[in-house]
Amino acid sequence: MILDGRTALVTGAAKRIGRAIAFALGRRGARVAVHYGGSREAAATTVEELGAAGVEARAFQADLAQPAGIERLFEEVAAWSDGLDVLVNNAASFRRVPFDETTVEEWDRVQAVNLRAPFLCSQRAARLMRRSERPGGVAGLIVNITDLSALGVWRDYSAHSVSKAGVIQLTRVSAWELAPDVRVNAIAPGAILPEPGLDPASREWLERGREVPTGRVGDPGQIADTVVFLAENEFLNGAILPVDGGEHLVQGGRE
Ligand SMILES: NC(=O)c1ccc[n+]([C@@H]2O[C@H](COP(=O)([O-])OP(=O)(O)OC[C@H]3O[C@@H](n4cnc5c(N)ncnc54)[C@H](OP(=O)(O)O)[C@@H]3O)[C@@H](O)[C@H]2O)c1
Repeated sequence: MILDGRTALVTGAAKRIGRAIAFALGRRGARVAVHYGGSREAAATTVEELGAAGVEARAFQADLAQPAGIERLFEEVAAWSDGLDVLVNNAASFRRVPFDETTVEEWDRVQAVNLRAPFLCSQRAARLMRRSERPGGVAGLIVNITDLSALGVWRDYSAHSVSKAGVIQLTRVSAWELAPDVRVNAIAPGAILPEPGLDPASREWLERGREVPTGRVGDPGQIADTVVFLAENEFLNGAILPVDGGEHLVQGGRE
């Protein structure tokens, strides 16, 4: 898909990896719907900076834990653009909670944000992505951002890793069922950014790179470039791409 002139929705795009994805798509000529949950100011800054870079962009707020919020998000995006060409399910919750301390509320909240929301967003996006209505009959694109925790076994992240493993299967089932109108692929990032509060330039975080076969942590631009690659290669469908310096090869039993 040539991104120039297309419309993309990136969830959780106010900051961090989502913001980098919004910029990468925008630089390729896409107009970008910048979704945010609570980061209103950061979303406004992202939209302003996208605008300064010549990218048409608008911020859209929605709590992805609420199906009604997702419904409203897609109504607003559809009213803003004629259709939708790209959806990036990037927003997620990441919290360390030991197995025995995971409450029903915690479990449900994580599954709602990390797994149910990508499902509902994909369902609604697919309704806006009819191939026959797109110039050149090109398929729409959904990119799900999963996590290495879905491929290995981490202690203390059971709700998170089960939700992200679900995102892999969601990618596969939707890639088949939505074809040929929509292609669906997933990226499994490795260590890209530390949890908010820890400086990505800190020695503690950079030393994390020692666990990675390539010897360093990644950066948000590498995930964003992979989204562009998935858009541009129209023969990729149902793929799960680790972008992790090869860490999926060596991880296991992480504490
Ligand atoms: N960081 C890494 O190294 C890494 C590694 C592997 C995988 N990943 C995956 O890559 C993606 C992006 O990572 P990240 O670290 O940039 O993410 P993040 O900062 O933890 O979260 C991204 C955004 O998700 C949004 N969000 C969370 N709950 C929400 C809700 N209920 N409703 C609406 N929005 C909600 C938040 O938006 P607001 O701030 O607007 O509330 C947040 O800014 C995630 O899917 C993550 O699992 C990241």
